[in-house]
Amino acid sequence: MNDDLARYLDWLRGHGIAFDVAGDLVRDEDHDGPLVEGDDGMRPVELMGIPPFVEHRDPEAGIAADHATFSLARALLPRIAPGTRFWDIGCGTGVLAVAAGLKGASSIVATDVDERAIVLARRTAADANVSIRFSHGMLLEAVPARLDADLVASNLPHKPCPPKGALPLSQRAGEDGADVHAAFAAQAAARLAPGATVGFWLHSLPDPRLFRAYRPAFDLTLVSWKRRFLEPGEYADVLPWFLERVRRGASYMAESAGRRFLVGGVWLARRR
Ligand SMILES: C[S@@+](CC[C@H](N)C(=O)[O-])C[C@H]1O[C@@H](n2cnc3c(N)ncnc32)[C@H](O)[C@@H]1O
Repeated sequence: MNDDLARYLDWLRGHGIAFDVAGDLVRDEDHDGPLVEGDDGMRPVELMGIPPFVEHRDPEAGIAADHATFSLARALLPRIAPGTRFWDIGCGTGVLAVAAGLKGASSIVATDVDERAIVLARRTAADANVSIRFSHGMLLEAVPARLDADLVASNLPHKPCPPKGALPLSQRAGEDGADVHAAFAAQAAARLAPGATVGFWLHSLPDPRLFRAYRPAFDLTLVSWKRRFLEPGEYADVLPWFLERVRRGASYMAESAGRRFLVGGVWLARRR
């Protein structure tokens, strides 16, 4: 196994986190650039095995698909077949939900707590001619109670946010970065049937408490990973605070040739 990945996984195990690594683990390309590329309101999306479509986005407001969205899409699309019941929780501009629909998923539900995201996601879906039930609200509370899912994308915020920090809503996840996923994991444990699978992309800044929240009801498997380099000046306001978390073992960051990087990856959480 690659040393950069092995060190991060050892760090997680050192925090008592149990997980599997997929036999066909994929190494995604390093991400080395701005979090969101381009400043245009529409962008073509091309993913293997589905027709291209257009994402409606608002990069200035931080509402736009990023490298993590595409890593998650590449990991989830092979797991979608005609009839798969798919939910996209924290759908942003709707790229994952629309891609799932183009792959044949049925009964697609997409929710977001940010109404501006729902407006954009509706446009993304309408242009691609994919039928999606949109709903505005918190996590699974926004999904009608009678519906079931086979596969759930939950690409939710997981960046630690300093008490006086100013991260956009798409990135805010409480002081240790685990609040949104912990709330989601509890709801998903109550809501999903055995065998249902949740997929999410995580970098290495949140407290490992995030993984612990899934463990009582889910088995965790890492299916792809990448190094996510920080650009010089990126997160300048909060970087000292991140580094302090790294020093006391609450977050993980590493260095290569003098440049800092996070280890990120797609995790599948399968309901036992
Ligand atoms: C990192 S963005 C990912 C968006 C999209 N899933 C993607 O991969 O492009 C996280 C999204 O979660 C939404 N979000 C944050 N907290 C939420 C909550 N409690 N319930 C529902 N959505 C939430 C944000 O508004 C944002 O659109």
